[in-house]
Amino acid sequence: MRTRRIGDLGVGAIGLGGMPMSIEGRPDEQRSIATIHAALDAGVTLIDTADAYHLHADEVGHNESLIARALAGYGGDTSDVLVATKGGHLRPGDGSWTKDGSPEHLKQACDASLKRLGVEAIGLYQFHRPDPRVPYEESIGALRDLLDAGKIRYAGISNANPDQIRQAGDILGGRLVSVQNQFSPAFRSSEAELELCARMGIAFLPWSPLGGISKAGDLGSRFAPFAEVAKAHEVSPQQVCLAWMLAKAPVVIPIPGSSRPETILDSVKAVDLELTPEELGRLDAAG
Ligand SMILES: NC(=O)c1ccc[n+]([C@@H]2O[C@H](COP(=O)([O-])OP(=O)(O)OC[C@H]3O[C@@H](n4cnc5c(N)ncnc54)[C@H](OP(=O)(O)O)[C@@H]3O)[C@@H](O)[C@H]2O)c1
Repeated sequence: MRTRRIGDLGVGAIGLGGMPMSIEGRPDEQRSIATIHAALDAGVTLIDTADAYHLHADEVGHNESLIARALAGYGGDTSDVLVATKGGHLRPGDGSWTKDGSPEHLKQACDASLKRLGVEAIGLYQFHRPDPRVPYEESIGALRDLLDAGKIRYAGISNANPDQIRQAGDILGGRLVSVQNQFSPAFRSSEAELELCARMGIAFLPWSPLGGISKAGDLGSRFAPFAEVAKAHEVSPQQVCLAWMLAKAPVVIPIPGSSRPETILDSVKAVDLELTPEELGRLDAAG
């Protein structure tokens, strides 16, 4: 698969989002492992996860553990796979998502993620979401300390606005390698952060790129131009969506979620789908 850069690493230009394999509606483990293995077979080398991708209160890190098991059980070489996890969100088990961006929590969460992933240093550790009760510089200061301690190889942030991206870049002294924000045909307001990342040379990882777990399958019926362009190329509207994002800037690396081999195998083909300027313009206008 064609690659793009995160820090000084090349990763497949389409990543795999792990969330659908661990939250509400998740499949059985066998299907999840088959999905991760299919992604690896297809050249995916970026897998996005989080300690908060779980359902019940007593299974924090369900998705990290699943990914660790899938990598350990894969027949081939996985040394070039970058597992990107996150800390700062919690799920108490009632379906809600809460936040804790305190340095104490982030450091303890990182230690727990290290154990679950079974690695000496986490490939990419992302601060999941700003916590209004904690000054942003304190949360990012924890990432800096984790980098300095060698517990994480790269640092990223998520759900950040342009000021926070610049602030994190300053605090991390040029060691901020990625920003993960929501971006899809229905959700365009992160275009400013995408453009800032392109100027700064930082990877931009669109989350819920297909509109989210419950809406991804209907992308073509909700956004007619995506279905029309898909028909012209004889591909899925989801592939068109991912190719449209890839064309926005060389720093964009979408992380579509998947819980079936078929969907990730379809999504990775977006790296080879060339859209014309006229098609890209129609998709831009289809918000
Ligand atoms: N940082 C954050 O705050 C944040 C928030 C949300 C998500 N994320 C990350 O972003 C990732 C992606 O977001 P998401 O999973 O919420 O939403 P998404 O990627 O927009 O949609 C996921 C759904 O798309 C379906 N799908 C994938 N490829 C497809 C294809 N080619 N054709 C048809 N359907 C396809 C999958 O269906 P099947 O399940 O049937 O395979 C999956 O359930 C997550 O997995 C997670 O890693 C981060």
